Amino acid sequence: MAASVLRVEGITKSFGGVQALKGVNFDIAPGEIHCLAGENGSGKSTLIKVVSGVYEPDAGKIEINGQQFSHLTPKEAIGLGIQVIYQDFSVFPNLTVMENLALNNELMDKRKLMSYKRARAIAGNAVSQIEFDVDLDERVENLSVADRQLIAICRALLQEAKLIIMDEPTSALTKKEVKALFAVIKRLQARGLPILFVSHKLDEVFEISERYTILRSGENVARGNTKELDRKTFVFHMTGRQFEDEFYRPSAAKREPILSVRELSLQGAYSDISFDLSPGEILGVTGLLGSGRTELVETLFGISQPDAGKIFIRGKEVRIKSVKSAIRKGIGYVPSDRLTEGLFLPQSVERNLAITALDRLSDHFGFLRRSAIADMTRKWIGELSIAAKSPALPVWALSGGNQQKVVLARWLANDLSILMLNGPTMGVDIGSKYDIHVLMRELAARGLAIIIVSDDLPEVLACASRILVMRDGAFVQELDPSATTESKLSELSTGIA
Ligand SMILES: Nc1ncnc2c1ncn2[C@@H]1O[C@H](COP(=O)(O)OP(=O)(O)O)[C@@H](O)[C@H]1O
Ligand SMILES: [Mg+2]
Repeated sequence: MAASVLRVEGITKSFGGVQALKGVNFDIAPGEIHCLAGENGSGKSTLIKVVSGVYEPDAGKIEINGQQFSHLTPKEAIGLGIQVIYQDFSVFPNLTVMENLALNNELMDKRKLMSYKRARAIAGNAVSQIEFDVDLDERVENLSVADRQLIAICRALLQEAKLIIMDEPTSALTKKEVKALFAVIKRLQARGLPILFVSHKLDEVFEISERYTILRSGENVARGNTKELDRKTFVFHMTGRQFEDEFYRPSAAKREPILSVRELSLQGAYSDISFDLSPGEILGVTGLLGSGRTELVETLFGISQPDAGKIFIRGKEVRIKSVKSAIRKGIGYVPSDRLTEGLFLPQSVERNLAITALDRLSDHFGFLRRSAIADMTRKWIGELSIAAKSPALPVWALSGGNQQKVVLARWLANDLSILMLNGPTMGVDIGSKYDIHVLMRELAARGLAIIIVSDDLPEVLACASRILVMRDGAFVQELDPSATTESKLSELSTGIA
């Protein structure tokens, strides 16, 4: 076996009382793409900072290209070719692409005057190495997040990187940008550069890496070849918990539809949409961004008005003129951006829960009944196992998954019969994601009718009892989750086989 580019052994690091790393071992081979995975707080960033000289470890060894260290300074790490692309990329927004790329080299060469021609050649060479098509004279502040990241990568190349470490590089990127970044990573690999790719996202680990190391609570609980890893094992190592991955089947009892949609159309969004939804069902609506999936549920929630078609609730035709009218009809909606749209972050969990149930929690004179609010809050914190030390805690202090549960609880505290969720687990940890899935099944089993809109295909497969695929504003096909695959769904969503 070839020597490692980087090997660490028994790395331990504490911050006050928090032991962030507990004897971590791992290594990267030349030219490999290695994923460092773990949930939020598992110690990934701390490990990177140890390797790049930002933190001194309490114990352990670092070996870079055969040289041993007990700790490094940032300068030593850079000298050894360790380049970290942090989440903020540390680019200079008010300088041009060329200046961002050439400045460092010119400074390091200690030339008094920067030669414009030389700078342009250096910058041009760097961007062409990763086939990055960018105007060298554009100011970086005018570039997208994805392009700034590529600038940071080019700069790392110019500083003679021998190992590029990317700390959760996809967190601010769109799906398309992630694809482009992966292509760049592959190009770097083809040039012989090893990459340490840090992520907590399962799909990314499978797509990009050859080997993986998983951290959980500061310990490295698993390492190996990605080819030999399956989803279930990955999730187990990430969370330390075992999850069932059965399909959701509503109870066999035939139930009348609670919601029927007939030939519903909204110009520029979707057309001729018909379906039924019964209590106990979870209808999965999937499709690409722009397929009309979000506009459809927004119409059902009274945010927009259809141009044509009919909506029936319990067989009776209804008009959903406003959000208020939707709520009155027992329809709830959790939009995809829970943080900006769903919650009052500085307010307590209790207030957030009480806010839509105010009518029921008031007495005849309109005064809020404190005990009723407290009872209701306790009930939902318990029912949804919301991890909040106290109901008085502000919502921003909770994890993403628990915030999502507060949004759900708030809806459930109203008398709902139809609950629609858009991207219900976007951006939450795998553990919380499974909790939310289990919760959705439980709610459906209790008789709620649920629609989830999601382009997370494994999620749709795991949760939905029926799947409708949308493309260009139309339903292309209905599928039984137990009789289809991710690739079939993706083929139907994109129209590309
Ligand atoms: N500078 C610091 N001071 C105190 N605690 C820290 C510091 N950096 C990280 N931690 C703690 O160490 C643990 C691991 O954090 P981190 O390495 O950032 O995890 P990850 O990158 O996997 O999300 C967390 O509990 C975090 O709160
Ligand atoms: Mg981190």
